Amino acid sequence: DKGTYPFYMLKEIEEQPLVLRRLQQKYFDFHGNVLLDDTLLQEISASERIYIVACGTSYHAGLASKAFFETLTKVPVEVHLASEFGYYTPILAKKPFFIYLSQSGETADSRQVLVKTNQLGASSLAITNVPGSTLAREAKYALSLEAGPEIAVASTKAYTAQIALLSILAYAIQLEKEDSQLNLLQELTLVEEAMTQVLTQKEHIHQLAKDFFRDTNSAFFIGRGNDYAVSLEAALKLKEISYIQAEGFAAGELKHGTIALIEDGTPVIGLITSEVTHLHTRGNLEEVKSRGAKTLVISETTFAQASDQIILPKAHPLLMSLVSVVPTQLLAYYATLERGYDVDKPRNLAKSVTVE
Ligand code: F6R
Repeated sequence: DKGTYPFYMLKEIEEQPLVLRRLQQKYFDFHGNVLLDDTLLQEISASERIYIVACGTSYHAGLASKAFFETLTKVPVEVHLASEFGYYTPILAKKPFFIYLSQSGETADSRQVLVKTNQLGASSLAITNVPGSTLAREAKYALSLEAGPEIAVASTKAYTAQIALLSILAYAIQLEKEDSQLNLLQELTLVEEAMTQVLTQKEHIHQLAKDFFRDTNSAFFIGRGNDYAVSLEAALKLKEISYIQAEGFAAGELKHGTIALIEDGTPVIGLITSEVTHLHTRGNLEEVKSRGAKTLVISETTFAQASDQIILPKAHPLLMSLVSVVPTQLLAYYATLERGYDVDKPRNLAKSVTVE
């Protein structure tokens, strides 16, 4: 039931802080200990390499989790598109561990890879939003996203739930090996508050969406590192519901060809949440601006500038994707409203894709 919300997508965007809370309640006890199966943690921590396999938004959640996961666990992580992995299996590590990310748990492309890795005898974990789903049943281990039913075709709360749950998993694996400098519960609470703060900027973001996207046919999202990962998701969200041709690019890669597409008035949205890369991304925004682009900057408050349009509260740098994705979801939502399309049911798309 969408209650007083005009569309499920808005309801689901707004539920994200709550989902984060639910994940903390489900996966931590009162003393702050992580409640995850020890054998699962030991298996992952003893593996030589982790392969995250997924499609679409879930694939993007994998990309946005890689840095945090590797930093904490010290196990290398590769993120793969299921539909590609199905045809060409890379040379695998001797002790691989597979993590399947899927909101529905029914995506045929992902299942196809799971069947194959099961045949190879590889161990696996399915992270899904539907506990009894095919992937959850067929993987060796399963964890639930606790996001509640996601009805809108465009995935939002499943994306942030996947990143948050992977962060808890990574933290638990780190604790198997060593003491952690991090208080993850505290960091996730900060993220939750930051998300809530971004949601209060909803009307402001609506105005920006109207101004930037009502009459455009193309748009670019740029960023570096995790901001690049979020750019890919931001672009997917915008294109699938508003039908604007949108692309996410690594900010430094624009000049190697794509910049030729920048015309007078082309919207370029810059994501800036990393201290290490913020000046470089700003440089890239200047480059496109001087070629006529209309720029919109989403930046973390510590290194925000007066002209930036959307300011994000500070959270752990490797968890900022949980915060920065929220305004991009709202931009896609309001762009679609302004263009007069059905937000929840975009053309040509189904909620779960059960064909390869
Ligand atoms: C985009 C979207 C799709 C799904 C993809 C994978 O908003 O919803 O890209 O993310 O089809 O679906 P799941 O996560 O159910 O495997």
